[in-house]
Amino acid sequence: HPPTIQMEGSSVLSRASCRAKGGAPGFKVAILGAAGGIGQSLSMLVKMNPLVSVLHLYDVVNAPGVTADVSHMDTGAVVRGFLGQQQLENALTGMDLVIIPAGVPRKPGMTRDDLFKINAGIVKTLCEGVAKCCPRAIVGLISNPVNSTVPIAAEVFKKAGTFDPKKLLGVTTLDVVRANTFVAEVLGIDPREVNVPVVGGHAGVTILPLLSQVKPPCSFTPEEINYLTDRIQNGGTEVVEAKAGAGSATLSMAYAAAKFADACLRGLRGDAGVIECSFVSSQVTELPFFATKVRLGRTGAEEIFPLGPLNEYEREGKERVSRKHSEGGLLHQ
Ligand code: NAD
Ligand code: LMR
Repeated sequence: HPPTIQMEGSSVLSRASCRAKGGAPGFKVAILGAAGGIGQSLSMLVKMNPLVSVLHLYDVVNAPGVTADVSHMDTGAVVRGFLGQQQLENALTGMDLVIIPAGVPRKPGMTRDDLFKINAGIVKTLCEGVAKCCPRAIVGLISNPVNSTVPIAAEVFKKAGTFDPKKLLGVTTLDVVRANTFVAEVLGIDPREVNVPVVGGHAGVTILPLLSQVKPPCSFTPEEINYLTDRIQNGGTEVVEAKAGAGSATLSMAYAAAKFADACLRGLRGDAGVIECSFVSSQVTELPFFATKVRLGRTGAEEIFPLGPLNEYEREGKERVSRKHSEGGLLHQ
């Protein structure tokens, strides 16, 4: 029998050496950390995206199993697996979009900052690979603490001379997904009809839901505002505690990342009006990186939108983030 897993160096019996070459046009996407809690579900969801022609799944463990599994799905994308650092360069070569959920997750009692030491090193190595092998790819960074891993990635790209601020995107979509869900619950409406901009960062009080800008327009009581803000800011901790040592959000995160990846690909395709919140290099505030609404286009985050009118509660929230920043760097939590 020929080997049936399309791992680096293996082949399957096929009339086409590479289906994607003769197949439908689409984008090439790599997932780094594809065998993890987020990575596995995200691999499945991205394999279902019709805009993807090639899907590369990279991890330092278990990539063959995940690749074999996902590759049996009868959707268009050709799946290839890559195991271990010596295959990182091949995993990255030619990619249009690289999504990075590699790294350790929190356990109860930990802040996201406790992950910094180990995840910073992982992100650095992976971004060095991106700079070398696909410097023009859009990078969606999920690994925590996002408030710090994104600036680290920027430094790696600057050092390599490849930094393009439009192409480095911290993934904060889960904050928006949670905000939409919790707001819809309070209002008693369908979450698919709700859009809540969430700006700032991705940790505790740096997560700033702009409840005054919710679509469809609505108003909240002060009690509802306190409840929603607290629930959105601590949504990650809610899941970490419920999982009781078995990790942090993976399923809702994979869903959010798949949504985000789809928006990036629609932008790359040239669709108009693709707008998502993302943690990017920014001049919207005095902070060097800040999550806001961005418009995704052929070259990444082509437009970064201002915060829009804030009410007093939201202005105070923003001030708190600035104060924390000037007191000693970004909050990680
Ligand atoms: P996990 O432990 O289940 O999976 C992580 C995967 O990364 C593992 O398969 C591991 O082998 C892999 N990995 C480790 N080092 C690697 C390297 N050098 N190269 C490639 N892969 C490597 O963790 P998870 O639950 O999937 O979470 C992953 C990360 O995402 C964590 O840092 C977590 O805090 C973060 N996260 C972020 C958000 C967000 O909103 N941005 C949400 C949830 C989780
Ligand atoms: C989340 O918001 O769920 C993630 O950042 C994971 C975590 O540690 O909370």
